[in-house]
Amino acid sequence: MGIALIWCLALILIKWITSKRRGAISYDSSDQTALYIRMLGDVRVRSRAGFETERRGSHPYIDFRIFHSNSEIEVSVSARNVRRLLSFQRYLRSSRFFRGITVPNSSNILDDDYNGQAKCMLEKVGNWNFDIFLFDRLTNGNSLVSLTFHLFNLHGLIEHFQLDTMKLRRFLVMVQEDYHSQNPYHNAVHAADVTQAMHCYLKEPKLSKSLTPWDVLLSLIAAATHDLDHPGVNQPFLIKTNHYLATLYKNTSVLENHHWRSAVGLLRESGLFAHMSLENRQLMESQIGDLILATDISQQNEYLSMFRSHLDRGDLCLENANHRHFILQMALKCADICNPCRTWELSKQWSEKVTEEFFHQGDIEKKYHLGVSPLCDRQTETIANIQIGFMTYLVEPLFGEWARFSNTRLSQTMLGHLGLNKASWKGVQREQSGSGDDVDPAFEEMDSDILPQEPRLS
Ligand SMILES: *[C@@H]1O[C@H](CO)[C@@H](O)[C@H](O)[C@H]1NC(C)=O
Ligand SMILES: *[C@@H]1O[C@H](CO)[C@@H](O)[C@H](O)[C@H]1NC(C)=O
Ligand SMILES: [Zn+2]
Repeated sequence: MGIALIWCLALILIKWITSKRRGAISYDSSDQTALYIRMLGDVRVRSRAGFETERRGSHPYIDFRIFHSNSEIEVSVSARNVRRLLSFQRYLRSSRFFRGITVPNSSNILDDDYNGQAKCMLEKVGNWNFDIFLFDRLTNGNSLVSLTFHLFNLHGLIEHFQLDTMKLRRFLVMVQEDYHSQNPYHNAVHAADVTQAMHCYLKEPKLSKSLTPWDVLLSLIAAATHDLDHPGVNQPFLIKTNHYLATLYKNTSVLENHHWRSAVGLLRESGLFAHMSLENRQLMESQIGDLILATDISQQNEYLSMFRSHLDRGDLCLENANHRHFILQMALKCADICNPCRTWELSKQWSEKVTEEFFHQGDIEKKYHLGVSPLCDRQTETIANIQIGFMTYLVEPLFGEWARFSNTRLSQTMLGHLGLNKASWKGVQREQSGSGDDVDPAFEEMDSDILPQEPRLS
């Protein structure tokens, strides 16, 4: 076969990657605040004030100063003006200032005492009980940077790949900043939590003995970036508001595609792997994409049935790189929706946060007569109903198969918490309604587009 064929394949791959990623898109000509936006690399938004350089942007359409305002500033916006508001807010929010990001004062990120406690927590980073909320407080909101840096070090990746620690830190800071801190759920703490869970799965005996440093590297980067620049609303919302990301990605895995391209943008900008060959960097970018795209919960049935049939046939061979990557996709899927498998104390907090984000979307949909998405109506939904449906239709099937693959103490612990947490929510449900067995019907239509992209919590 030889060199020629390999070259040919490499060229096809490069062509595919570049054609997929070099999209330049134009906004409405009526939209005077912007002329163009370019995905990947710097996104330049031309405003009346001149050029503003921004790395990338989901540029969410909603002014959160309005919606998050306690003082209920009533802004009278007619339906006719919604489109204009939505598109205008993209640019407003593209500024870090409006995304509520405060640049940490590097000289005093950590108080010494807190720093000591955070370091102490990191010694137990592989514990399933790891309290990411506490860790985030102790690191003054820098949980994603601190945790991921620590894991890179722990897995020997800095040495193995000869990484420049300054570049690594800069890359991680950019990643952390590109999460929206005002999202109740899809923020950098969720990313840190998923990264911590991924680390726990990578340590499982079946995986750890066959994983290469490359696999570990990709897994940690994909976990840390898997929801990058998440706008806090789901795919159906982006589609019905004609958001440019929905157009760009043709209504398919819209958010996941954006998370991936955003991650690639930051990888390139940071120059973290500039010392690697172009081929390796391109391979890395596409494999990270495969991992992140697997977190699209609407594709779960496809992944799950493939997983199930491999397990039925018993033909998974982890010396095979393709099989290994498939398992890493399943591991990241598990990490992404593992909230109900944590202890009640942690799990409950995540449930409250994700529900808050759903209901917030529902409030916007009501306000602008967009039609309230399933699970997003605070008048008809409860945390308990949402959680029970989520566990029954998404979490239990996935973790059941995972425990078949990796039948360890960790898997049993996770299934144990899952059962207990479900029972607790059922208790809450009974108290609230007297009828204990309702399962949210929205979850029964798994293949339907109307299923919110992320009860997923992705
Ligand atoms: C940031 O740190 C410097 C010391 O290097 C200090 O003078 C300054 O007041 C700090 N700023 C804030 C906002 O804490
Ligand atoms: C995306 O969905 C919207 C709303 O259903 C539809 O109008 C549009 O044509 C779809 N776009 C593509 C590329 O399928
Ligand atoms: Zn996620």
